[in-house]
Amino acid sequence: MSLPTVISLVGARPQFIKEAVVNAAVRRRNSWRHILVHSGQHYDANMSEIFFTQLGMPSPDHFLGIGSGTHAAQTAEALVKFEALLLQEKPELVLLYGDTNTTVAGALAAAKLKIPVAHVEAGIRQNPKTMPEEINRVITDHLASHLFCCSQLAKGNLESEGITRGVTVTGDVMYDLYRTLEPSFTPREARRKLGLEKESYLMATIHRDFNTDNPQALRGILQGLQAVSASRGCQIVLPLHPRTRKCIAAQGLETFAASLTLVDPLGYLDLMSLTQDCAGVVTDSGGYQKEAYYAGKRAVVIMPDTGWRELTECGWNILCPPQAPNLEKALAALEEPREYPRNLFGEGHAGERIVEELEKNLG
Ligand code: UD1
Repeated sequence: MSLPTVISLVGARPQFIKEAVVNAAVRRRNSWRHILVHSGQHYDANMSEIFFTQLGMPSPDHFLGIGSGTHAAQTAEALVKFEALLLQEKPELVLLYGDTNTTVAGALAAAKLKIPVAHVEAGIRQNPKTMPEEINRVITDHLASHLFCCSQLAKGNLESEGITRGVTVTGDVMYDLYRTLEPSFTPREARRKLGLEKESYLMATIHRDFNTDNPQALRGILQGLQAVSASRGCQIVLPLHPRTRKCIAAQGLETFAASLTLVDPLGYLDLMSLTQDCAGVVTDSGGYQKEAYYAGKRAVVIMPDTGWRELTECGWNILCPPQAPNLEKALAALEEPREYPRNLFGEGHAGERIVEELEKNLG
């Protein structure tokens, strides 16, 4: 009997990380014919290829090459190209991850062709509701037949929107990856390259449109980081997302970034290695605020709200507006001792659980 076909669609950094875990579980179990499709939303080597190499993922079977563009242009391009591929491959199921434009395009294309959709990291909700990622998640969850949640809170979010069928709490695939790759992290080596002393530096990442595209917000964040670096005499390592690099140049904010340790976007292993030995994290990334927690580090989250409320409600992470004085205050608050909140997002077996559940449904 031939195996069923599942298409897994990825396109942006956080999706490569999530797919790597599911992909490994599928290969271990020989569950189905797994076709890996890369939309091409992220295309620079250090935004894409490095993850495939470091995470031991097979090369994509198809590359759609959608590239960058406005939300409509990027989503539309992915929708048209992915639909053509679905018509050609006729899969039994489409597997989607997270909340990017690639995710929502995959959900729309598959659902209109009546192909069941499985959504990994379902049920995350946050304000503002106008955030592109929030729009993408809500649509994807409402089109999905199989919804895999990282926590009970996410399941409750789905319930409150009337989604109760096909929902499974599996834990977070990103925790699986952290546990699997932790022995490969090389914090000393990563620090040495940048001349950093253990626990004497902060890690920062900024890429959200509401922070980068708003000159006041971006200036506030950079000023805050600069002030913290000066007052504490500590280095702040800022791997620069290409969007942020362009916005700093376009808004003439280079002087505010001059005292920071700016580096190119980092692969998973380098980022996690540096995180393991840092004093704390400042970020507006959904994934990184959780990865910091897995590394035992607390984060100041520069967002009006977060989808990962488990981390802010217990006080481990702190939300902060993009203004310098707030950032300094929030970082000071991070220094108050806190007990580590264990296992908020499962025990590290999410990949296996997702694949097991889908195997049952694919017969
Ligand atoms: C996207 C996701 C976001 C995710 C992030 C991870 C959406 C709506 N947003 O945001 O949820 O957290 O990926 O990084 O899908 N660029 C390059 N090289 C690349 C990729 C992008 O230079 O390889 C530049 C382009 O100028 C592009 C800009 O970065 O216009 C933004 O890229 P895009 O994929 O549209 O959104 P992200 O900000 O990366």
